Amino acid sequence: MTRYDTIGRSYTSTRRADPRIERQIHAALGGARSVVNVGAGTGSYEPTDRFVAAVEPSPVMLAHRVAGSAPAVQGVAGALPFPDSAFDAALASLTIHHWPDWRSGLAEIRRVARRVVIFTWDPRMERDFWMVDEYLPELAGTTATDGPPLAELAGALGGARIESVPVAADCVDGFFAAYWARPEAYLDPVVRAGISCFTLVDDARVIGQMAALADDLASGAWDARHGALRGSAEYDFGYRLVISD
Ligand SMILES: C[S@@+](CC[C@H](N)C(=O)[O-])C[C@H]1O[C@@H](n2cnc3c(N)ncnc32)[C@H](O)[C@@H]1O
Repeated sequence: MTRYDTIGRSYTSTRRADPRIERQIHAALGGARSVVNVGAGTGSYEPTDRFVAAVEPSPVMLAHRVAGSAPAVQGVAGALPFPDSAFDAALASLTIHHWPDWRSGLAEIRRVARRVVIFTWDPRMERDFWMVDEYLPELAGTTATDGPPLAELAGALGGARIESVPVAADCVDGFFAAYWARPEAYLDPVVRAGISCFTLVDDARVIGQMAALADDLASGAWDARHGALRGSAEYDFGYRLVISD
């Protein structure tokens, strides 16, 4: 069973496309008429106005794809079941850090698609997020949470432009930093169940650190340090689009 066969059971309770990020991703896909979505999960961020084929390894994630979403096949980035140049564009959203060999996945993507759009983050910025810096610092610098360095990613794509993806304070896609201004959300096990980072740390440690967060919220210590965030509309936590035309 893969990590996403467990996470997939409740994924759609907290994970769905955020409309602002979706607009940015669709703009990056440009005029592509056909798109392969690699590591597609339940279908977030897939355009509905053009042909899309989805590739996803986890049968549980596949089973939870939204009704009416694009046709999907079970498969991995490193062995895409399509002929050369089959698609105008490829999308890989919040998935590349899970690939055992991201370079071979990218080589496959470049084989089947011309334009490439990767939604990922800049691993150099992971300690900018208070959750990592103050509560789970062991998440920083681990290969399982780091995506590839963006410069290496761009190099492997033969050049790419990089766009910042600010995260809105009311982001509806419950990924790791989505609740940066709503710290109480992380106390909810259902929220944490949709975030793979939390599965990388021993359960007892996560529960202990979430109890520390609850104490800091109750005492006002969290707000003394970060209360200004509650009034901000959006924040840059290092999420990025890497776009290769
Ligand atoms: C955080 S989810 C993202 C799903 C979707 N793209 C989204 O934005 O909601 C990460 C996905 O990557 C998939 N994944 C893991 N290893 C993979 C691999 N080697 N190749 C392709 N996808 C993979 C997981 O099964 C999971 O569905």
